[in-house]
Amino acid sequence: MITEALQYAATSLVTPKQFRPFIRSSVSLWSRAGRCAKGWAAHEENCKAFIRETVAGMKQRRTVVVLGSGLLRDVPIDDLAAKFDTVVLVDLVHLASVRMRLKAKRFRNVRLISRDLSGFDDAAAAKVVEPLSFLRQVPYLDLVVSANILSQIGVGSKRRLEAENDPARDEILQRLIRAHLDGLAALPCKTALITDTAYRVTDRGGQVLEEADLLCGVPAPAAKRAWTWPVAPYGELSKDYQAVHDVIAL
Ligand SMILES: C[S@@+](CC[C@H](N)C(=O)[O-])C[C@H]1O[C@@H](n2cnc3c(N)ncnc32)[C@H](O)[C@@H]1O
Repeated sequence: MITEALQYAATSLVTPKQFRPFIRSSVSLWSRAGRCAKGWAAHEENCKAFIRETVAGMKQRRTVVVLGSGLLRDVPIDDLAAKFDTVVLVDLVHLASVRMRLKAKRFRNVRLISRDLSGFDDAAAAKVVEPLSFLRQVPYLDLVVSANILSQIGVGSKRRLEAENDPARDEILQRLIRAHLDGLAALPCKTALITDTAYRVTDRGGQVLEEADLLCGVPAPAAKRAWTWPVAPYGELSKDYQAVHDVIAL
């Protein structure tokens, strides 16, 4: 509790005002990631391996942008900083502990941007939704990594729409998910997309108690790799059941 309060306070000081409402959920992700480190390790290693593989096949490595860089748990930041001229990390919030870690490593080529990557405001105002259009302005862009953010765009936007009781909720959620996928597909550079697509809550006997599509009905693109991620291993939500997510990478 005390470390969470410190993390919250230190992050508030360095976060632009409009993004401060999102600090709480980043801090709670950080706490959960610490508690579930053992259960998440294989997923995090799979993500890093996939990004390293993608980079290994690239001849030109000038700028890489990481969308949803968050806690940098599933992003091989040392490799990216060593191999690219510039690394741009984009998220709603960059926690104080993440900033300190980057500072301690003395990276000179890593930049942090706070940005809402969902397109929510435009979708809610029935405008064209192009949340990744800012990437067109990034010079020498050779790689964009979408690092476990896509499902969170759906989850966060769903929460906001439920609060507003919007009848067009499902349609808006699908537009946001599609806008991220289409935005990545339209980029003239290499991309790596890692996302969870669905979850299941199961008991110790394997019985499915609850399941949901995390892409809100938008078909998942064909994957190069797929694995499962025990987001809430036994003991996190209950000793009797676990929540497991399906993850794809392409
Ligand atoms: C599951 S975490 C990703 C973990 C991260 N890649 C890592 O290595 O630790 C999802 C991340 O997406 C970010 N996120 C969620 N919605 C976002 C949005 N609309 N715009 C920007 N970032 C968002 C969250 O702040 C969080 O850091």
